Amino acid sequence: MSRFFDLVSKPAREMETYLPAPPPRRMPEEIQPRLIRLDSNENPFGPSPRAIEAIGPALAAAQSYPDDDCDELRGKLAARHGVSVEQVLVTAGSTGLLSLLCQTMLAPGLNAVTSKRSFVVYGMAVHASGGQLIEAPMRDDHFDLAAILDAVNEDTRLIFLPNPNNPTGTMCDAAAVDHFLSQVPGHVVVVLDEAYYEFAARFAALRRVEYPNSIEHVQRGASLIVLRTFSKAHGLAGLRIGYGIGPAELLAYCARMRNTFSVSSVAQAAALAALDDSTHIERVVSNNAAQAQILGVGLSELGYRVVPTWANFLYCDVGEDAAPLAERLRQQGVSVRPLGGWGAPECIRVTIGTQEQNRSCLDAARKIHDASPRADRRS
Ligand SMILES: Cc1ncc(COP(=O)(O)O)c(C=O)c1O
Repeated sequence: MSRFFDLVSKPAREMETYLPAPPPRRMPEEIQPRLIRLDSNENPFGPSPRAIEAIGPALAAAQSYPDDDCDELRGKLAARHGVSVEQVLVTAGSTGLLSLLCQTMLAPGLNAVTSKRSFVVYGMAVHASGGQLIEAPMRDDHFDLAAILDAVNEDTRLIFLPNPNNPTGTMCDAAAVDHFLSQVPGHVVVVLDEAYYEFAARFAALRRVEYPNSIEHVQRGASLIVLRTFSKAHGLAGLRIGYGIGPAELLAYCARMRNTFSVSSVAQAAALAALDDSTHIERVVSNNAAQAQILGVGLSELGYRVVPTWANFLYCDVGEDAAPLAERLRQQGVSVRPLGGWGAPECIRVTIGTQEQNRSCLDAARKIHDASPRADRRS
């Protein structure tokens, strides 16, 4: 077939390529300067000013390799979460740890379990390790934890539970997660992916729902890795830094598998500073909670079914093929994510932006809706 097809590994031959939202430079030139990107769940306020300040000196010392163990950051995270330093592993984005976990725990013949319509990177990390991904069915846009447990077999080593989930934005509460963890067999490690933790914790407080006490499970010795990231509420997605909290022995095995110096000194400095900026987090999270409501109501008024979110994005069923709708929105200068690739061809995911960005998004959606022949049937 080609020169290298027979030479590369089976996973490399068979893996699908991840397609991120198209970067603005691939948009028509007249749209680029005003494009509002609500397609990648990024932070509309950017990084913390303290992180930006910390980057300068780190850049000036960029001739040196970074601290491979991220000791200062691990120490700070360990103190914050009430765990030992050995129970924290910092990686290049939390997806970096997903890959390490798969390389460490999976191999051909072994599998990981998650739900349908969960975070796409799980499949990529699992397949790259030669393992198999089993996807349990969902129930009403929510995870069916019983179905996930039913899918586990003797060859399962990992369960991925994004909480809240991307792209549905749904969340499993403390009681559900406690019960779930008590049922997981001993040969399986659960990965509780809390990339949207800060947003979910705020919604949980507002709605008087208990968000899972995942770190307490780690403290009690559960076979559990909790993933957190600096990419979302902290606004450092471009620097690639995240971490996991879990059993020290397992994280030490993962650490052996990592690429040397994979977390840059600039990312470590920014993350250390960002952790101290509670003002920035408060701004980001309170905007998100208020704007989730406004954007959700606005999209519902157009006849879209909006699933209540626990994260920084909305999952909307638009009742028609979402790809052309997303394209029309892009032409209006607003980029959202159509979810055909997740098996939800009539759904879009819209990142919650600033008040101004969300207003522009709603204006554009309304314009398209009013021009559509189906408008009178829907609303
Ligand atoms: C469920 C989930 N986990 C993790 C991440 C982010 O990973 P990273 O820390 O590698 O940026 C995302 C980002 O979209 C996500 O949706």
